[in-house]
Amino acid sequence: MSESVDTYHPGLEGVIAGETAICCVDQGRLLYRGYDIADLARHASFEECAFLLLHGELPTTEQLALFKQQIDGERELPGAVVDVLRAIPRQAPMMDVLRTGVSLCGNFSSAKSQGRSSLLTRAVRVLAAVPSLIAARLRVLDGKWPLEPKPGLSHAGQFIYMAFGREPTELEERVLNLTLVLYAEHEFNASTFAARVCTSTLSGLHSSVVAAIGTLKGPLHGGANEAALSLIEKFQSSAEARRWVEEALAHKQKIMGFGHRVYRNGDHRAFILEPYVDELARMRNEQWRAEVYHAIKETVWAKKQIHPNVDYPCGLVYHFLGFPSDIFTPLFVMARVAGWCAHIIEQHVNNRLIRPRSRYTGAPARAFVPLTER
Ligand code: CMC
Repeated sequence: MSESVDTYHPGLEGVIAGETAICCVDQGRLLYRGYDIADLARHASFEECAFLLLHGELPTTEQLALFKQQIDGERELPGAVVDVLRAIPRQAPMMDVLRTGVSLCGNFSSAKSQGRSSLLTRAVRVLAAVPSLIAARLRVLDGKWPLEPKPGLSHAGQFIYMAFGREPTELEERVLNLTLVLYAEHEFNASTFAARVCTSTLSGLHSSVVAAIGTLKGPLHGGANEAALSLIEKFQSSAEARRWVEEALAHKQKIMGFGHRVYRNGDHRAFILEPYVDELARMRNEQWRAEVYHAIKETVWAKKQIHPNVDYPCGLVYHFLGFPSDIFTPLFVMARVAGWCAHIIEQHVNNRLIRPRSRYTGAPARAFVPLTER
């Protein structure tokens, strides 16, 4: 074993920390199991993508029908979980509620075996539980009882139905499905890496997903979609937005929804989603908000040459769809849980404990001073 700890990359930037066959992220491409994100975004449902990520191949018609049936069979939450959703204080952030909810669901899904098929079963359970948890919490906050899932709806449609008590419009379902496809997977991002670290100790699938949810919550990661919308909402006009952003950048302030550790020429997912900002703004008669969106983007580009990432258009798209901002990052979870579970399984079946080294910067070795002499 090498003792060398000389190579240090803050934030692990540029470090290859493992191998994966699930996703390829680079300047020119974003591939899920070899399929280009643009093709998946145009043609695939979230369920097809989740199957692809978990199983390695796109499903046949029969496989997809069975997969959807399995997810539908796991949507209903245990009564004890609903009781806890009711007991959590109102002001708790939805991401914290979701973290607790997934953790709690894990106790109803305990299985000794950690083999591939058992992990796949638990992956389906957690995929099904996440939208049910978000929807149930929204209902509970509204003083209502959670709705039973309606069999036959798509994953996106089911969420809208369970959360808002009505069937989705075609547009809502299509756009939510698109964001779920775009968010489903992204290689060794911080939350996926957290899930893989947890998995590498041979902890269970639910523990790994809980670690990932906690990691995704932060505004430098998934929390940026909510933060990006609150930035856009600050301004009534483009001129106001430009002034504020110039000032913020001059003070080295970060603009949420911009920049990326890997992408230097822009985020493929943001390019795919952006046309919906203008389309939905027109439909909602909120063009001025789209103008603020573009003004911020142009100013960040002019001053720093930094592109938006997927969270920038996504925050506004979710706002136009009428979703409360507290569920933006939970919707990211609803998608990314597919990628996390694929990584958890990949890590598990070819495991080596993830345990890097650190460079010590503390005090030199020194003599212990007894308490009475300090
Ligand atoms: N606003 C202003 N300046 C920025 C931004 C930003 N959003 N992002 C990077 N920079 C600047 C940064 O100040 C630095 O400038 P300088 O060299 O003059 O000091 C330079 O670009 C390099 O930035 P960095 O922070 O060292 O880059 P990083 O690779 O560590 O950061 C990042 C990546 C995503 C954490 C960062 O771009 C950021 O904080 N963005 C805002 C939060 C955000 O939108 N996160 C969502 C990421 S994509 C979705 C996801 O995977 O969750």
